[in-house]
Amino acid sequence: AANKCVRVEREGRVVILTIDRPEALNALNLQVLSELTDAMVPLDSDPGVGCFVLTGSAKAFAAGADIAEMRDRTYPDAFLTNMLAGWEAIAQLRTPKIAAVSGYALGGGCELAMMCDTIYCGQSARFGQPEIKLGVIPGMGGSQRLTRLVGKSKAMDMILTGRMMDADEAKEAGLVARIYPDDELLGAAKEAAAQIASYSKTTALVAREAVDRALETSLSEGLLFERRIFQSLFGTDDQKEGMSAFIEKRKADFKR
Ligand code: HXC
Repeated sequence: AANKCVRVEREGRVVILTIDRPEALNALNLQVLSELTDAMVPLDSDPGVGCFVLTGSAKAFAAGADIAEMRDRTYPDAFLTNMLAGWEAIAQLRTPKIAAVSGYALGGGCELAMMCDTIYCGQSARFGQPEIKLGVIPGMGGSQRLTRLVGKSKAMDMILTGRMMDADEAKEAGLVARIYPDDELLGAAKEAAAQIASYSKTTALVAREAVDRALETSLSEGLLFERRIFQSLFGTDDQKEGMSAFIEKRKADFKR
């Protein structure tokens, strides 16, 4: 078998996936996709896994889709194989996932980070959608997710010029939730992941579904969805446990 491109480590209820293709700045080829999905899809339904952390190297989270792999593709081939559609499997995972970004997150790399529920980054992070320089456009969600995250004007600016933004600009724009010194990033992401994973997995999944609805639907439909799933949580043991623990002044012990 070819060398692995993704390292998978488990720390308690957290699974850390590290893209590791240093020779190509972690460019996302079909092997990276299949290793990520092969690892993440089965763990998604594992009640023992409460959060994913997706990360890369100090130099690159991922410098985009693999240009060498793409160059000679044709339209019929791209269409018939539904090129890039496989990445939706990552976006559709239900377990919370944090992208921890150092260095370049360009093109498909930025888009992969945006498929995660939140992005934390190091000071070295550089985000961009430079596809226009290659004669293409974002193809893994960039035109849609970046626009929802940072608004039309900034998304147009990024996608039409192909420029990069640094960590501070990304945070100011709302693309990134937290910035850390590079050497503290992964530790902080794992700590947040462990916190998320310490809660009821059912509650966490429902919480992220509720937030995601906000980008998919009208306010009144979103509010109805939120209220209904809020009500549904009263059918869980973890709701009884969480509220009982508060009243009894002890730490909650969530089961699922
Ligand atoms: C394949 C890549 C790559 C990529 C870098 N490499 N990015 N290979 N696909 N996306 C390879 C280089 O060819 C080089 O290989 C090695 O990684 C190191 O890269 P350098 O360019 O030498 O490094 P540096 O000078 O530090 O420049 C870093 C960089 C630059 C600014 C990030 O590599 C760059 O511009 N990369 C392309 C970024 C990009 O256009 N991404 C969007 C891709 S399109 P060798 O063998 O020479 O050492 C895309 C489409 C998304 O993502 C929509 C559908 C997926």
